[in-house]
Amino acid sequence: MAADHNGAVRAPGFQLHRPGGDPPRGRGPAEPDADAELLADDAMVDLSLDLAGVDVETTLARLDAELIGLAPVKLRVREIAALLLIDRARAKFGLEAARPTLHMSFTGPPGTGKTTVALRMAGLLHTLGYIRKPKVHTVTRDDLVGQFIGHTAPKTREALARAAGGVLFVDEAYYLFRPENERDYGQEVIEILLQEMETQRSSLVVIFAGYPDRMQRFFSANPGLSSRVAHHLRFEDYSQAELLAIAEVMVAHEHFRFDEDARLAFGEYVARRMGEPRFANARSVRNGVERCRLRQAKRLVDARRPLSRADLTTLSAADVYGSSVFADDTEQQDGPKDRATA
Ligand SMILES: Nc1ncnc2c1ncn2[C@@H]1O[C@H](COP(=O)(O)OP(=O)(O)O)[C@@H](O)[C@H]1O
Ligand SMILES: [Mg+2]
Repeated sequence: MAADHNGAVRAPGFQLHRPGGDPPRGRGPAEPDADAELLADDAMVDLSLDLAGVDVETTLARLDAELIGLAPVKLRVREIAALLLIDRARAKFGLEAARPTLHMSFTGPPGTGKTTVALRMAGLLHTLGYIRKPKVHTVTRDDLVGQFIGHTAPKTREALARAAGGVLFVDEAYYLFRPENERDYGQEVIEILLQEMETQRSSLVVIFAGYPDRMQRFFSANPGLSSRVAHHLRFEDYSQAELLAIAEVMVAHEHFRFDEDARLAFGEYVARRMGEPRFANARSVRNGVERCRLRQAKRLVDARRPLSRADLTTLSAADVYGSSVFADDTEQQDGPKDRATA
């Protein structure tokens, strides 16, 4: 009876893709058209008429425009999108195939865009009907591993339940694996994750993220996990030019701009920061920009005069050279500050 009822409710056209809408009831999100009439063997399918495809093109264009560099990552994202788009087209002919495995690993130094790309990826996979919600649930070891015996499995299951239908992003995944502790509960987490990744009941995508060398060791020590990860995306350190371009994107996004001298100064700032021990790529750039804003604000308040729109939006060289990365430079007192006022 329930089946009849469902059948009656499903009006023609129900299977049309609706971004953000519920998936068709009773079937996996990977087969959006499974209920629609199949195309004849000699029919033609026009990818540009797949509404999801149109949304995907928009998402990919934004990814290209808003994220600097990352060419190999962007290419891989495009390939994954193409794979799912073709999967949808094949489903229209009733061509059955296993749901593609999309568990991934994102390896790269800190601040290279792993979390950012995971969010975009979730949006994309949702648009293509692969996951039910465009959400990323981020966890680290402490969210999964319990302190006492019997606590780990419930914690891990809770995290999986939260991530269900979306992306589970396991940051610094290698902390789950501590071979030096023979009774470490991290191993239990790995086993539960592995089961979940194999069954795919909850249309969950797992992304493991972390530093390349440690991830390499983590996967070598856990070949079962490694073999369930279909896509390895490598994030590289950004070049100085890329970091400067990233700074400009961030600054523009907040309705600020570097003036000519400030741009040069920030390039110098980036070059110095890159050589420091805890440098974290785009994250350090973001922090640097924040501190420029702080110094700009102080400068404007101290000026005690009416402020124009240009005053409020312009970051000057002085706002950059106030940074402590220039502090151990003995010439700084006269050098860069002179330039700042020039
Ligand atoms: N290619 C990029 N273009 C623009 N902004 C970026 C880029 N990569 C990272 N960012 C920004 O840098 C910050 C750190 O990135 P994040 O994704 O958290 O790095 P990770 O997860 O690799 O440590 C975020 O604010 C993000 O928006
Ligand atoms: Mg991150």
